[in-house]
Amino acid sequence: MGLVTAQDMLEKALKGKYAVGQFNINNLEWTKSILQTSQELGAPVILGVSEGAGKYMTGFKVVAAMVKAMIEEMNITVPVALHLDHGTYEGCYKCIKAGFSSIMFDGSHFPIEENVAKTTELVHVCKQLGLSLEAEVGAIGGEEDGVIGKGECADPDECKKIADLGVTMLAAGIGNIHGKYPANWPGLSFETLAAVKEKVGDMPLVLHGGTGIPTDQIKKAISLGVAKINVNTECQLSFQAATRRYVEEGKDLAGKGFDPRKLLAPGAQAIKDTVKEKMEIFGCIGKA
Ligand code: 13P
Repeated sequence: MGLVTAQDMLEKALKGKYAVGQFNINNLEWTKSILQTSQELGAPVILGVSEGAGKYMTGFKVVAAMVKAMIEEMNITVPVALHLDHGTYEGCYKCIKAGFSSIMFDGSHFPIEENVAKTTELVHVCKQLGLSLEAEVGAIGGEEDGVIGKGECADPDECKKIADLGVTMLAAGIGNIHGKYPANWPGLSFETLAAVKEKVGDMPLVLHGGTGIPTDQIKKAISLGVAKINVNTECQLSFQAATRRYVEEGKDLAGKGFDPRKLLAPGAQAIKDTVKEKMEIFGCIGKA
């Protein structure tokens, strides 16, 4: 099976009361680990690509070609969507051209009228091309220059406005943030989530900042309509820790000298373990 959109998998997740994981990719090892784990566990998966990661991998065309070839070479049969994460307006068009199967347009920093106008245009383009589209309302905070921004709570009426345009899925800020949560984080606003759900009905909701949210809050969010959960930082942390351990043990210098495949293997295994752990919590194992 080649790439699929996120639509079918999210509709099933919403009905089945579980969430599909979006795991962001940064290189070949990351991608391979996530695909292997999804296949082993029989779970549908969304590979997220930020604009920065796309640039790092030399461009979206390379990413799309790599992922499509990996699906074929690795005999991956579970549904896989390749999704632009927090796309700019220009980035969306680049990924559409490069062959992504799913796009996120993050217009949350625009005034609502401009977010509506640009999202409307992209809904039209994605419908014509058969791609899924994620929109965002209520900025999701996170760390920038060492300062952790507070996660905003989306206005449920604005969420309805964007949902009604015909997007496939909606990321609504409910106090969630990217990266590590500060010690005094008050937790997800379930009041906001319930109010958004009430307004948008059967629209699958997306929870960003999946790293470090306590399991009980994740499960409650799923019970209130979250069908896709994004994880990036947790894979980065586990990759980094495993690589550091390996280097500190001096193993990369053993034997016949430096071998990048050996150096990256513990990190790749750490990502597999993290993805498995998250999929268990999301309830998507065996749902392919
Ligand atoms: P974390 O980096 O906090 O896991 O969030 C990932 C995310 O939401 C990507 O859009």
